[in-house]
Amino acid sequence: MLGEAELRSRLPVAGLGIPLYCYPSIGSTNDRAEELAREGAPHGTLVIADAQTAGRGRGGRTWLTPAGSGIAMSVVLRPEDLPAQRSWGLTVLGTLAIIDGLTLVGIRAQIKWPNDVLAGGRKLGGVLAEATWAGERLDHAVVGVGVNVTPESAPADGVVDFPATCAQAAAGREVDRDALLLGILQGMGQWLPQIGSRSMLEAWDRALAYRGEEVEVEQAGGLVRGRLHGLTAGGRVVLITESNDRITVEPSAWRLRPVRDNG
Ligand code: BTN
Repeated sequence: MLGEAELRSRLPVAGLGIPLYCYPSIGSTNDRAEELAREGAPHGTLVIADAQTAGRGRGGRTWLTPAGSGIAMSVVLRPEDLPAQRSWGLTVLGTLAIIDGLTLVGIRAQIKWPNDVLAGGRKLGGVLAEATWAGERLDHAVVGVGVNVTPESAPADGVVDFPATCAQAAAGREVDRDALLLGILQGMGQWLPQIGSRSMLEAWDRALAYRGEEVEVEQAGGLVRGRLHGLTAGGRVVLITESNDRITVEPSAWRLRPVRDNG
């Protein structure tokens, strides 16, 4: 189990984490956080679970969190005056926070655009941000973060569409889940005032995996292939094709993968 009493004594971190809802097992922390947000839960409310039985990933995929193996956390955010054109930053906030948390426990990670966190070329974390709008105004967002910590949390190759790893394998030693969770929360708190800003975009761009390498991206219009160049101001990924054309792809694209190993 995550150390609930110890965590409570350390919260809030950077203005986040109170109130804390902590469950041994739950369907999805995002679903619970959404329920609480609809009941009026304040900015910073944190839901964590030792295990999830119906964890959700991007694109309707399943996210596995067996007991004692990973981090499953969701934070209710109510940022003031966030314009829709900056809301791409809600997901990136979670991704950069994972990178920050991993850095604190000694793991160097990268981002597989748009929002998968990789170590050693394998996925160990992801973000599911869900926003609720009242017309033009953001009412609230739930930013859900999942990180594989022990080997039990990393699905075997063949079970998932991209090879997985865990923080312990990346670090080569035990990783304290509480310390990692607090580091992620700290990262979220630091990125919050910069949601959708140029500095956030630059940090996202700097952390990109496969820069200068051949990648393919599956999107609504089909598969596109090219050398990964970087990001546009709106967070689209820029690919340079073999014929030197510049293609940009929306972050809602289904998936990106390197061509070199087709992993
Ligand atoms: C992805 O990589 O597709 C995103 C994975 C996000 C998983 C986290 S675990 C905590 C929160 N609760 C969920 O049901 N999903 C997110």
